[in-house]
Amino acid sequence: MIWLVGNRGMLGTEVYRRLQAAKLEHVATDLDVDITDRQALSAFSDPLDLSWIVNCSAYTAVDRAEDEPEQAFRINAEGVRNLAGAACQQGARFLHISTDYVFDGRKEGAYLETDTPNPSGIYGRSKLKGELNIRESIDSHVILRTAWLYGPAGNNFVRTMLRLFQERDEVKVVADQWGSPTLAGDLADAILWIITRDALQFGTYHFTNEGRTNWFEFASLILELARKHHLLEREVRLLPIQTEQYPTKALRPANSYLSKEKIKTALGVPVRPWQEALESFMNSLAVHQKES
Ligand SMILES: NC(=O)c1ccc[n+]([C@@H]2O[C@H](COP(=O)([O-])OP(=O)(O)OC[C@H]3O[C@@H](n4cnc5c(N)ncnc54)[C@H](OP(=O)(O)O)[C@@H]3O)[C@@H](O)[C@H]2O)c1
Repeated sequence: MIWLVGNRGMLGTEVYRRLQAAKLEHVATDLDVDITDRQALSAFSDPLDLSWIVNCSAYTAVDRAEDEPEQAFRINAEGVRNLAGAACQQGARFLHISTDYVFDGRKEGAYLETDTPNPSGIYGRSKLKGELNIRESIDSHVILRTAWLYGPAGNNFVRTMLRLFQERDEVKVVADQWGSPTLAGDLADAILWIITRDALQFGTYHFTNEGRTNWFEFASLILELARKHHLLEREVRLLPIQTEQYPTKALRPANSYLSKEKIKTALGVPVRPWQEALESFMNSLAVHQKES
């Protein structure tokens, strides 16, 4: 039995859909089983015969975390330790999602799993502490670090751009932060690929879509595809800006580019280019719009 934690989030909804479609035996929870409440967690999981706990829950408010570090650490570090402990106690495996924000973004070139983390904000620090808690608690774990996640559920960059393209004549987007977008469905596919393999090398892996870009280029392709798929009929001017012109409470890494070599070679997980993933997402939005 698989326990999916965080099934109402952006990634969790995609994993949930796939567990249902594949008819894999599972249970799914979100805030109804608070991962920071050890008693509630045990009461829920003790009676189950678990093979995997898949954790898609998290505190993800990057800027707000600067004002409420206790809450970020309670969920991303302590809550994650509680889940890893529950998996260990049950003899289950633990799959967890982490982030590019564990790195400071100063490296030139792709980040490897062996690179030393050095988070610059509270969110990144809390996620790194979560990783450390997992490694201390359970050997049979997979930590997947991802970045720039978007999909049909929740707030994300693609949704924000599509909204701004409808509201404004001019949209400014930072062009000096580099990384790879990740379609939530593609990451969910990777998760199902991993948890349905018998032979598995546990450890830490990076997964995003393939290819390196910046937010401005990402926005430019969203705009182009929105026009192509008739999701946008009006004219919008897109302007590249520098990070200093778009100040945020928490620092963003200038380089978020994660190498996928390890996950491809050690686990055989397929990784498609970010442009291809975005095209399929925009196409599905267009189909959905036509149907509704
Ligand atoms: N989004 C990105 O760009 C990005 C980038 C890199 C890595 N990641 C990582 O990817 C994973 C999935 O991200 P996401 O964007 O899908 O997150 P999300 O949409 O914020 O979903 C997280 C879910 O966890 C729930 N949750 C929060 N606190 C909880 C608690 N104490 N107990 C149980 N559930 C709780 C949330 O409920 P509420 O919404 O009601 O609080 C939400 O449904 C996270 O680990 C995140 O750190 C995300």
